Amino acid sequence: MIYLDNSATTKPYKEVLDTFVTVSERYFANPSSLHSKGSEAEKLLGQARKSIAQLLEVAPSEVVFTSGGTEGNNIAIKGIAFQHQNRGKHLITSSVEHASSHESFQYLESQGFEITYLPVDHDGLISLEDLERSIRQDTILVSLIHVNNETGTIQPIQEIGKILKEHPKIFFHVDNVQGVGKVDLPLKECGIDLCTISAHKFHGLKGNGILFVKNGVSLSSLFTGGEQELKKRAGTENVAGIVAMAKALRLILQESKEKRENLFEIKQFLIEELRTIDGIDINTPISSAPHIINFSVKGIKPEVLIHSLDKRDVYVSTRSACSSRQGGASRILLEMGLGENRASTAIRLSTTYGNTLKEAELSLKILKEELINIKKVMR
Ligand SMILES: Cc1ncc(COP(=O)(O)O)c(C=O)c1O
Repeated sequence: MIYLDNSATTKPYKEVLDTFVTVSERYFANPSSLHSKGSEAEKLLGQARKSIAQLLEVAPSEVVFTSGGTEGNNIAIKGIAFQHQNRGKHLITSSVEHASSHESFQYLESQGFEITYLPVDHDGLISLEDLERSIRQDTILVSLIHVNNETGTIQPIQEIGKILKEHPKIFFHVDNVQGVGKVDLPLKECGIDLCTISAHKFHGLKGNGILFVKNGVSLSSLFTGGEQELKKRAGTENVAGIVAMAKALRLILQESKEKRENLFEIKQFLIEELRTIDGIDINTPISSAPHIINFSVKGIKPEVLIHSLDKRDVYVSTRSACSSRQGGASRILLEMGLGENRASTAIRLSTTYGNTLKEAELSLKILKEELINIKKVMR
């Protein structure tokens, strides 16, 4: 199997699965229960919070456990909007956010908030001048994706943070679901107030995530009925998944220190080879995340190519897993001005540290063969 769909999800590390099983067996009590078993689970939860905080270089009180990226983005965006609406109802985001942010903003628009969707250039980048120009007296939130899940475009978060330092009343939320372990993001240095992270994108388990909420930032809570997670996210914590996520975070950060160059090498190889194939356009900008390669294949429906590769045991995707079943053109590629044809024929390859150059070579060989087969059938 050659699995090149790591931006949709990653295979959990063996150590993560072992941790999950051990904790589920030994510490299954509810961490909010008053008896000693509950206290043991609570203690373990506290230790996981501390290790995650250390790895992210933040305080333990700034780590809120969630069910993943979609929830984190919803809590951050709607939570800030509803809590601080008396100060202003203007919010700024980009036109290339993940659906979980994009649709949160659309919902807020229906609730009387005013949203500026910053446009992007051909590389998928917002302009800092546009951002500065769109800031108003009543702006309360800027929310942006760090690494784009379809193209690997990296928004200049540090520079944006610098601009927002001049506007201390505006909260800054970053969706870093695709960046963890692949593109560094020092939360404090970048002036970030809230940051969304999801465990299954770095070999943790699905259904676990982190929302970094800077100390002092108040949020209206989306869920009611429990006092967990500093009242920011009601609901019994998934202790085993959280402890396993702490392990995954430690392991991915270690791998990223040792092997990030490998990812760049594989990406470079794939892009150079793809460029030589007739009818292929590369959509990923030159300077981008090391693990995402997006390209369009003229005249071939992505579903057809995905299924032919699948039969050869190579797994790729069209765009984000959440919107891949919708079909049609990619909203992100359209916003980049790449046109309907390119936007509706896009394929995404996404790697991680387990992938090798040999796999990349083999998958390209198979891709070339399958393109010939598909074209033969189409004739
Ligand atoms: C950039 C980005 N944000 C948010 C999400 C949603 O994360 P989750 O699958 O954990 O809900 C994804 C998932 O693909 C993503 O790529």
